[in-house]
Amino acid sequence: MDITTKLNRLISEVEAAIDLLVPAHPGPETGPARIHAAMRYSLQAGGKLLRPVLALSAAELFAPRLSALPAAVAIECVHTYSLVHDDLPCMDNDDLRRGRPTAHKQFDEATALLAGDALLAHAFLILSTHYAADPRLAAALVHELADAAGGARLVGGQMQDLLSEKKADATAAELEFIHLNKTAAMLEASLVMGGLVGGAEPSALDGLRTAGRHLGLAFQIIDDVLDATADSATLGKTAGKDAQSGKTTYVSVHGIDAARRMAQEQTEAALTALRLLPGDTAFLVGLSRSMLARAK
Ligand code: IPE
Ligand code: IPE
Ligand code: MG
Ligand code: MG
Ligand code: MG
Repeated sequence: MDITTKLNRLISEVEAAIDLLVPAHPGPETGPARIHAAMRYSLQAGGKLLRPVLALSAAELFAPRLSALPAAVAIECVHTYSLVHDDLPCMDNDDLRRGRPTAHKQFDEATALLAGDALLAHAFLILSTHYAADPRLAAALVHELADAAGGARLVGGQMQDLLSEKKADATAAELEFIHLNKTAAMLEASLVMGGLVGGAEPSALDGLRTAGRHLGLAFQIIDDVLDATADSATLGKTAGKDAQSGKTTYVSVHGIDAARRMAQEQTEAALTALRLLPGDTAFLVGLSRSMLARAK
């Protein structure tokens, strides 16, 4: 199977679903045009759409009765909100995201803050609306995404990321906590939510979670390496930002070569977990490998 062909097909499906499921033409009931413009500005900026693609391809391992596309869009809404807030001056203070000015540069800080808030809420509106025909599935999806996005996971990881700035004595355990939560939580949730829509058994959901955790760690380690080695034009975001901000990263704690090796080990662990899953895992295996070698 050609990984690129399938990837492009899934990306097109996600782009179309985002366009359909996120308000575009505000009317009297949907409020000011500016908030919808800001939400779409960040959401439709050419992100890699990795998380929605993971969710769709996990669902395809099984026999979904409902489409996984709404779940995929909900995940991308949460991810994009996290980036909009991550870029704010009070967080990482970045000017460039997905090759464009960050939301607060294009609009203003208050609009970026509100667009992030609205994207987060919209994710749960999508899940509760589009899976209403199967209330147990809807509840499981809402639970999974809320858990991944909350204070113990994504937001907890972001908090620790800030607490560990300019901390020369940050430990490897602290570093792992940051990466497991600010990034791996959402990759785990993406695979697990796909599995839930697919009707996966608990043992397969455990396998998806394990794969997502390892893949998420690998993904953030590579993000750290790219921050130190790639240029802003390629990344579509400001390179060299981690060192400049004194972030605790795999590169700052372990160095570039060891970080690359660790990303490889985490990818191998993800592949082992993926291969134990039922169904045809060739695409997920190929996609995981390509994430290790990515340029942005
Ligand atoms: C960026 O995520 C933030 C991290 C968790 C490393 P991506 O690298 O997936 O960013 P987009 O969605 O493609 O812009
Ligand atoms: C991103 O970490 C984590 C989240 C947005 C949750 P980074 O701060 O490393 O992401 P980039 O490098 O700005 O995309
Ligand atoms: Mg950050
Ligand atoms: Mg950042
Ligand atoms: Mg980064």
